[in-house]
Amino acid sequence: MIRDSAEAPLTSSATWQALAEHHAAIKDVHLRKLFVDDRKRAVRFTAEGAGIFLDYSKNRITGETVALLVKLAEERGLTEKRAAMFRGDKINVTERRAVLHTALRAPRDAVIEVDGRNVVPAVHAVLDRMADFSTRVRSGAWKGHTGKRIRNVVNIGIGGSHVGPEMAYLALRRYSDRNLRFRFIANVDGAAFTEATQDLDAAETLFIVSSKTFTTLETMSNADVARAWLINKLGDESAVAKHFAAVSTNAAGVRAFGIDTSNMFEFWDWVGGRYSLDSAIGLSTMLAVGPENFRAMLAGYYDMDVHFRTTPLDRNLPVLLGLLTVWYADFFGAETLAVLPYAQNLARFPAYLQQLQMESSGKCVDLTRRRVDYGTGPILWGEPGTDGQHSFYQLLHQGTHLVPADFIGFLEPMSPLAAPHDLLTANLFAQAEGLAFGKTAEEVAAEGVEAADVPYRVMEGNRPSNMLLAERLDPRTLGALIALYEHSVFVQGAVWGIGSFDQWGVELGKVLAEKIIGELRAADEPKLEHDSSTNALIHRYREHRARGH
Ligand code: F6P
Repeated sequence: MIRDSAEAPLTSSATWQALAEHHAAIKDVHLRKLFVDDRKRAVRFTAEGAGIFLDYSKNRITGETVALLVKLAEERGLTEKRAAMFRGDKINVTERRAVLHTALRAPRDAVIEVDGRNVVPAVHAVLDRMADFSTRVRSGAWKGHTGKRIRNVVNIGIGGSHVGPEMAYLALRRYSDRNLRFRFIANVDGAAFTEATQDLDAAETLFIVSSKTFTTLETMSNADVARAWLINKLGDESAVAKHFAAVSTNAAGVRAFGIDTSNMFEFWDWVGGRYSLDSAIGLSTMLAVGPENFRAMLAGYYDMDVHFRTTPLDRNLPVLLGLLTVWYADFFGAETLAVLPYAQNLARFPAYLQQLQMESSGKCVDLTRRRVDYGTGPILWGEPGTDGQHSFYQLLHQGTHLVPADFIGFLEPMSPLAAPHDLLTANLFAQAEGLAFGKTAEEVAAEGVEAADVPYRVMEGNRPSNMLLAERLDPRTLGALIALYEHSVFVQGAVWGIGSFDQWGVELGKVLAEKIIGELRAADEPKLEHDSSTNALIHRYREHRARGH
């Protein structure tokens, strides 16, 4: 039985109180002092697992901080909650579902049961079908309706059915088949479809309609547009069979749309949208990098799963990252978390993590239905370095907000151009150093700066960061990196006692939009019963349309 946070509200627990007192004692201690006081700090505050090295020494913590946070995690039942997730218990209590993305990367011989049935054979059966399909498309054996081979793959999906595939394609582009072009369409704005397809030959184009539910408005609308586009270009409705595949949990919906279910790749309701890249939702990724690389990515996820499950909490990468997120959100009042990959190929990684973090931890009610009296998930954002250095880093260095940052770097370059990699890495290390240690007034003055200008140039420092380093950005590392953040989010949810696996907040907008669509399109003036602002906006739009636009 999972211990419930009902018994002891989080903020009144003795450990929470101890953390609050400890925070009061160290909140003004500068990282400069922490490093001088503890010469072994850079060794002490490191951890490694699944090919990822974490230096968390530049955080505003001491050994006592880590010990207290780990104690808090234990008291909040992290170990039992983790076991329950891996076991397949229905820990997504608000949707009454198991949470088993970890089963998607389990080895063939693993046994993981949901409602008494081992799900692992079905996982591998779908992976095998995906591999067979990918091989046929990549080799040219799969022919389009006119007999041409496929050269363009267009993924249509949104949220977890989009941003993961897009992110992974960019991340692993180096490993991709350059004879295939990949496009990703999410936005219901017709411009997304038009721009993505304007230079494509329909006879060489394969659409993958990716939707867990196969009911999402944006995806269904874009899929309809794609089907009409294809039929219009190829002049034959039966062309759909050779140019559409679907990834979904909803076979009936796929059939109703007109996609042959033999071109459908299944996943299950125990896979959350934002946790689904390693399911059939990754079909476009497999088409790009091939089955072997896709399986290497799954092996990386699995490496991190094993690390998370078996490593003591105080050396456990996801546990440390998750607890540091709690530390800054709740004790320092940090409202955001920056993720700053020093790798152009990870350009979409912050956006990917944004959904993972913010749909999971963006909750204000705990699992005992109580309004929480502590901060939950921070706003996650970020851009690759070094680009960001020339825009928002100014605020990181001298602004009034405390923004904890995760830097991500690689020891090896992702391109044959090795020389720039030293520059990139120098900037990576320099930023973490600069944020932590800043520049004192004395140091600025010693550079010959006029006294009146010194205050403008002082950097207070004491701005915390993690440094994540791996050898190279390959499929296995990408899998491990994603799983690292998945489990970090899990740890946060366990401590906060929130439901990390639902997203009810997204539903309201969907329902309201459904109503407004009818009102925008109605032939006769509709009777509007919204607030006066929304009514006026609908009027303005209708009037503009009525003028023939
Ligand atoms: O908008 C919320 C959401 O449910 C996400 O969690 C999900 O990833 C996305 O919509 C897409 O849903 P589907 O895959 O069912 O189309």
